[in-house]
Amino acid sequence: MEAFYSLKNRVAIVTGAARGIGAAIAERFLRAEARVVFADRDEAEARKVAHSLDAPGERSLVVPVDITRLNETEAMAKQVTDKFGTIEILINNAGIAGPNKPLVDVSEEEWDFVTAINLKGVFLCCKAVLPVMLKNRYGRIVSVASIAGKEGNPNLAPYSATKAGVICLTKALAKEVCAQGIYVNCITPAVIDTPILRQVTQQQIDYMTSRIPMGRVGKPGEVAALVHFLASDDCSFTTGACVDISGGRATY
Ligand SMILES: NC(=O)c1ccc[n+]([C@@H]2O[C@H](COP(=O)([O-])OP(=O)(O)OC[C@H]3O[C@@H](n4cnc5c(N)ncnc54)[C@H](O)[C@@H]3O)[C@@H](O)[C@H]2O)c1
Repeated sequence: MEAFYSLKNRVAIVTGAARGIGAAIAERFLRAEARVVFADRDEAEARKVAHSLDAPGERSLVVPVDITRLNETEAMAKQVTDKFGTIEILINNAGIAGPNKPLVDVSEEEWDFVTAINLKGVFLCCKAVLPVMLKNRYGRIVSVASIAGKEGNPNLAPYSATKAGVICLTKALAKEVCAQGIYVNCITPAVIDTPILRQVTQQQIDYMTSRIPMGRVGKPGEVAALVHFLASDDCSFTTGACVDISGGRATY
């Protein structure tokens, strides 16, 4: 039978694949027969999860990378092309919640740290893989933004601002490269049950969950299913989009 949303042999980099949403995306991509790069600054966890999903290691590659450094994202792209010959899919998933407090109490260092990972990191990963995609005239880039980037969550101003930045980076880049067969989209999850929730207070989680009409948090596998479509050939007339996955919190 024909496989829909086939990723057969596609080479996909997933940043932040050591756990949470990134690990779920990596797992789903492997099941869809892609070759998957587990790109994460936590090498030990990335190796553990990669081994659990692809013990022979034939369809996976672990690349330790700090996405805030251009020399590291460029080295990642080189390592991937050396092993697999190409890069067809980039999932910009790595991110942090950052300080969970009123803006007036956020330090300059905290602001810089969050923006370096959540926004500059997306830029540097795109910058590192685009030369390969432009040469091949093929690419799918999906960035994991957040509902916070649409609505703005109180006590998460740096996070919300960086995610709004990811949404607009997506729209701008999509228009630049769509004529070359590279489609760039982002998604905006509401609360998803992953270890990132340890970075925020229970009060914050309760606030965010109370605003979800479905009345529950999302699961990493549900996010992976949406990313799967956006990373596939079937995503052929959608670019620059910001696709909602928030249990009805944002219907725009
Ligand atoms: N879980 C949620 O409620 C939720 C909601 C909306 C959006 N998101 C977004 O989804 C993405 C994944 O979140 P998650 O919940 O799975 O988080 P997580 O904390 O479970 O995992 C994040 C991963 O990113 C990696 N990482 C962090 N900084 C890095 C860096 N500088 N370089 C390389 N890797 C780095 C971590 O090591 C970790 O493996 C994030 O961008 C997050 O903002 C999450």
